[in-house]
Amino acid sequence: MSATALAPAKLNRFLAVLGRRADGFHELELVTTVLDGVPELTDILEAEPAEALSLAISGPTGEGLEADESNLVVRAWRLLEAAARRPLPAALRLVKRIPHGAGLGGGSSDAAAALRLGNGLFGLGLDDAELLDLAARLGSDVPLFLLGGTVLGLGRGERVFPLRPVPLEPLLLAHPGLHVPTPNVYCALPEVGYPSPAPLGSLPEGAAPPWRNDLTDAAIRVCPPLAEVREALRGTGGEPLLCGSGSCWAAHYASSSARDAARIALRAARPDWSLWAV
Ligand code: C5P
Repeated sequence: MSATALAPAKLNRFLAVLGRRADGFHELELVTTVLDGVPELTDILEAEPAEALSLAISGPTGEGLEADESNLVVRAWRLLEAAARRPLPAALRLVKRIPHGAGLGGGSSDAAAALRLGNGLFGLGLDDAELLDLAARLGSDVPLFLLGGTVLGLGRGERVFPLRPVPLEPLLLAHPGLHVPTPNVYCALPEVGYPSPAPLGSLPEGAAPPWRNDLTDAAIRVCPPLAEVREALRGTGGEPLLCGSGSCWAAHYASSSARDAARIALRAARPDWSLWAV
């Protein structure tokens, strides 16, 4: 008997850095939407009871990823074993489609999928609060994937609250394949000046949050070529927003046809970039 869980990507639509905390993390306010229904940006995790725990990684973006104890899927499984106080031997197969280091939350989503999958497959009976607690220990972005939909994140991002669905405008995601380490981006914040610590005011029901990411200048300081991607997207009429700490950008367009035309133009101009319409 095997079980499967989907691990979609996420899009931060609003990311405010409110300050640096004594523990070194940053106090954030985030509005994030989980990108359900985009197969080319969705990982797949399959689990089957076996004699020992193993993880095999395949898929278009799986190359070079470690399948050892450092992998977030294995770390999630080990936390489940600790909570269950018994081994949960299983053969795990992860098909990777979400690019690594893009700011799309691939590793975090895989970890959340592993928590749900193991809990169900082995009938552990952990409730939502227990799973959210394990998720927060794995990383700031893991809990939001357990909720899905559109989520308000507070604290370092791990305190999550479901929001009403807010539709997304036609989007083009552009991934230049650059690698921007998240800790370096947070470390660069003082160099570019902390953005003004203005949290999100209350929004009218169903209204979209402002398109804002306070990590943008710091990410460009760490990796200057990121700015070229922003300019290229602007050149096609899009309004770009950096995804998390990069290196993917999401641009929204006035219509799907404007977005599709932008995709065609950018595909010709930058064949080395990966592009997804959402
Ligand atoms: O929690 P996560 O493992 O995703 O965080 C990666 C790194 O990003 C942290 O080690 C920290 O340097 C930085 N970070 C931060 N403030 C946050 C989230 C992450 O400084 N709210």
